[in-house]
Amino acid sequence: MKLTASSSVVLTLFVHANAAPTHPKQKQSSFKSHSTESLIAFGDSYTYVQGTLGHQNYTFIGDEFNFSFTPAQLFSNRIVQNLTGTAEGGPNWVELLTGCGVEDGLHNPRECDVQLWDFAYAGANTIEEAGFTPLHHNHTVSLERQIEQFASYGNPALESIHLNKKKALVAIWIGINDINDLVSTQGKNASFAPLYEKIQDRVFENVEKIYELGYKDFLFMNLPPLDRGPGTPNVNASLVASFNTIHAAHANDFQSNHKDVKVLQFDVNSVLNYVLDHYQDYGFKNVTDYCPGYNQPDILTNPSQYGCTDLDTYFWYNSGHLTSRTHEVMTKALKRWLLKQ
Ligand SMILES: *[C@@H]1O[C@H](CO)[C@@H](O)[C@H](O)[C@H]1NC(C)=O
Ligand SMILES: *[C@@H]1O[C@H](CO)[C@@H](O)[C@H](O)[C@H]1NC(C)=O
Ligand SMILES: *[C@@H]1O[C@H](CO)[C@@H](O)[C@H](O)[C@H]1NC(C)=O
Ligand SMILES: *[C@@H]1O[C@H](CO)[C@@H](O)[C@H](O)[C@H]1NC(C)=O
Ligand SMILES: *[C@@H]1O[C@H](CO)[C@@H](O)[C@H](O)[C@H]1NC(C)=O
Ligand SMILES: *[C@@H]1O[C@H](CO)[C@@H](O)[C@H](O)[C@H]1NC(C)=O
Ligand SMILES: *[C@@H]1O[C@H](CO)[C@@H](O)[C@H](O)[C@H]1NC(C)=O
Repeated sequence: MKLTASSSVVLTLFVHANAAPTHPKQKQSSFKSHSTESLIAFGDSYTYVQGTLGHQNYTFIGDEFNFSFTPAQLFSNRIVQNLTGTAEGGPNWVELLTGCGVEDGLHNPRECDVQLWDFAYAGANTIEEAGFTPLHHNHTVSLERQIEQFASYGNPALESIHLNKKKALVAIWIGINDINDLVSTQGKNASFAPLYEKIQDRVFENVEKIYELGYKDFLFMNLPPLDRGPGTPNVNASLVASFNTIHAAHANDFQSNHKDVKVLQFDVNSVLNYVLDHYQDYGFKNVTDYCPGYNQPDILTNPSQYGCTDLDTYFWYNSGHLTSRTHEVMTKALKRWLLKQ
């Protein structure tokens, strides 16, 4: 399976394009005729995958205390798929998009049709700054540090195996922790737009660094409807919309400043709001709460023991994450959308 996105199609800008969700009964799209050979991912727990050389529950490889790695280490590393191999109780969007690491067990990214090189860190913010968005843990690797790590170790390793940068898609999904943490550090009455500007300035300074390494295709994901999360969400719909508008403006600027770049902006927010509004069409039964036994080892086989229906019938996995089923629904829409670009 190959993804779309890096063929020689004329560049177009897709701001909040019509990313209409797929109907679940529709046939899975095929990417055979397209040419993406690898996905290089950065972000937070929505995007991280567990690696055998990763920090358990946080990364594919390393952490802030173990920042460097050799090419030999990177290529001996395996993606782990099991109940705790992601933050959603099963395969997440980067695994589903690439088909790399979907089945239970260990996976060598180099043996996948679309290789998945994932440097996301669960709990990451964009910026590591006391009083603004501090690290969740002392081992956390912020987005800016993920990209430093990539420039110093990941990219040289991938160059050593002659990864084709023209057929690599760089995916960035960041901001979920940022928007929540800013409410905690600044208070509900803060003026958030300038803070979101600061974050996006920093995101795109770092995107620029990836561009300078020779990568030209970028996929940006905006914030999901965190305002419809379980319990009492930290943020409301207007804050999420403000964050996403500021993000889109920066992505547009990055596109205008680089004619040789292809910027894809996937409107996760619209897609998942649509799914929430039509949840029964997707087999969801519960979109307001999560199963309290979500992290129990037998949750997949024995949900009723925790007063729950099957985990796949929940939209939310826990207070802050989507279920693997929600990732699957979203990724089907993403694949269809990518094919149209
Ligand atoms: C990883 O997360 C799982 C599920 O929440 C938990 O049971 C396990 O103890 C965690 N592992 C570590 C090393 O923290
Ligand atoms: C540091 O990471 C490497 C892989 O990059 C791993 O082999 C090693 O065990 C890690 N060390 C610690 C202390 O986690
Ligand atoms: C998932 O795999 C990791 C690494 O092999 C292991 O440490 C962890 O206990 C496994 N989790 C489950 C729920 O089997
Ligand atoms: C990191 O934090 C942990 C838990 O809070 C603590 O035990 C550890 O000493 C800290 N490590 C360093 C190097 O500060
Ligand atoms: C959303 O939250 C912000 C920040 O707390 C607040 O200023 C604004 O009035 C809220 N908007 C709505 C529509 O509730
Ligand atoms: C936010 O503003 C409202 C209205 O002015 C005020 O009542 C409230 O105390 C303020 N909250 C904080 C946390 O400053
Ligand atoms: C949603 O799930 C929670 C946790 O299992 C449960 O308490 C709640 O009643 C469920 N809501 C609906 C509408 O099924």
